[in-house]
Amino acid sequence: MTVDMRSFLQQIKKTNDLFIVKKGVSTKYEIAAVTEKLDESKAALFENVKGSKFKLISNLVGSRDRFAQAIGSKKSDINRKIVKAISSAKKPRISSTAKFFENSSKDISILPIVTHFQNESGPFITSSILYTRNQEKKSQNSSFHRLMPIGKNQFSIRMVEGRDLHRSFMFAKTHGQDLPVAITVGVHPAISIACAFQAKWGKNELEIANSLMNNKLTLTKCPSTGLLVPSTAEIVMEGKILRNKTHKEWMVEMLRTYDMPRSAPVIQIEKLYFRNNPIYHDILSGYTEARLLMGMPIEAKLNSIMKKKFPQTKQVILTSGGANWLHAVVQISKTRSTNVKKIINETFANHRSLKMVTIVDDDIDPTDAVAVEFAMATRFQADKDLVIIKNVRGSSLDPSSNQKKLRTAKMGIDATIPASKRPDGFKLGKIPKSKTNLKDYLKK
Ligand SMILES: Cc1cc2nc3c(=O)[nH]c(=O)nc-3n(C[C@H](O)[C@H](O)[C@H](O)COP(=O)(O)O)c2cc1C
Repeated sequence: MTVDMRSFLQQIKKTNDLFIVKKGVSTKYEIAAVTEKLDESKAALFENVKGSKFKLISNLVGSRDRFAQAIGSKKSDINRKIVKAISSAKKPRISSTAKFFENSSKDISILPIVTHFQNESGPFITSSILYTRNQEKKSQNSSFHRLMPIGKNQFSIRMVEGRDLHRSFMFAKTHGQDLPVAITVGVHPAISIACAFQAKWGKNELEIANSLMNNKLTLTKCPSTGLLVPSTAEIVMEGKILRNKTHKEWMVEMLRTYDMPRSAPVIQIEKLYFRNNPIYHDILSGYTEARLLMGMPIEAKLNSIMKKKFPQTKQVILTSGGANWLHAVVQISKTRSTNVKKIINETFANHRSLKMVTIVDDDIDPTDAVAVEFAMATRFQADKDLVIIKNVRGSSLDPSSNQKKLRTAKMGIDATIPASKRPDGFKLGKIPKSKTNLKDYLKK
């Protein structure tokens, strides 16, 4: 298994999963446009970014295949590997040296920060992972937060309320302090997967990353903040989130819709370190890489919990149509005693952002939207099989909800075959066709 982003790039080059762009490209819309065009097919390495000496990688784990490669598992085994890594998380080793000390600067404008979409408030670093001390639990936290540059050494930071970083920031603020932070850009994707996971308050996501990497993760102490970051990171920054400064920003979110303008805290950067021949990582918000990073760890968690609580659960899927975040389909092997509404409620209870849960039988492929709709069309009665939950906490991103008060309505659909009905009524018509070969029908 590879241990840094560079060696992972070599690995996906060998499997023909890397699209190498030698032509000079602009950070303004062009990189985002190429990345969008590639969709899930390949990661893109831009070797010549106009006005920067950094190379740039995008769409790194933009497919379930590359996601599986990143954690050294089969595609069908991703969930199990993530769940195991969470339960067997182990402290990484510490190394006093790191390649990112090879170069340093105080000027963030040397970074090839991408402008992705029309009408966003500016360019954003979208792969930035922030490391902070959790003062209450005496541990370290890591999480993704997008950063918009303001001048040569400040960023505004998107910090969703209630996230661990926000709690630590509020703690510092109420004690009259700025919050010291370290930031990395360009880490092995297994680290990204762990840091996108909403681990319990006080739990260090880097220990989960270490377990995903078969205990091969090493960390290095940052000189000014003392925070530990992955030793093989391409770019590392140190600074502090200022307790008394904000800046307006707005951006395209993981649903691919424009979020409302928000007043965001500001980070003052003291120092920037980077490796020789540095590679910057960009993630296109709302597209597969961002959605898989957000959704896969939750999907893994839901599968683990639901299978334990309801052994008839076969699979839980966060659907593409629901942005791998808002809609789930749960496939079950239903028996006479199965309480489907209980399964619906339990699914909602384990992922607060869920807005719709559909339960299907084990002959329906939960990843196939047409098959799921067919189950609804033929097995569901709205007056009996629908659960509506009103005015509860939901995702902060859904523009149809009350985003100020974070209130939404939720819908559960029991699209399984009703036990009270004639089973033959649900069987699909069968045509005996085992020996039919179309070629035979081209001959006269
Ligand atoms: C690509 C990507 C970008 C993200 N951007 C942000 C962001 O700008 N602000 C934010 O609060 N969360 C963002 N997140 C989500 C958090 O990083 C994620 O939910 C994390 O697990 C929260 O960690 P915590 O448990 O330490 O609060 C992003 C996630 C990904 C994968």
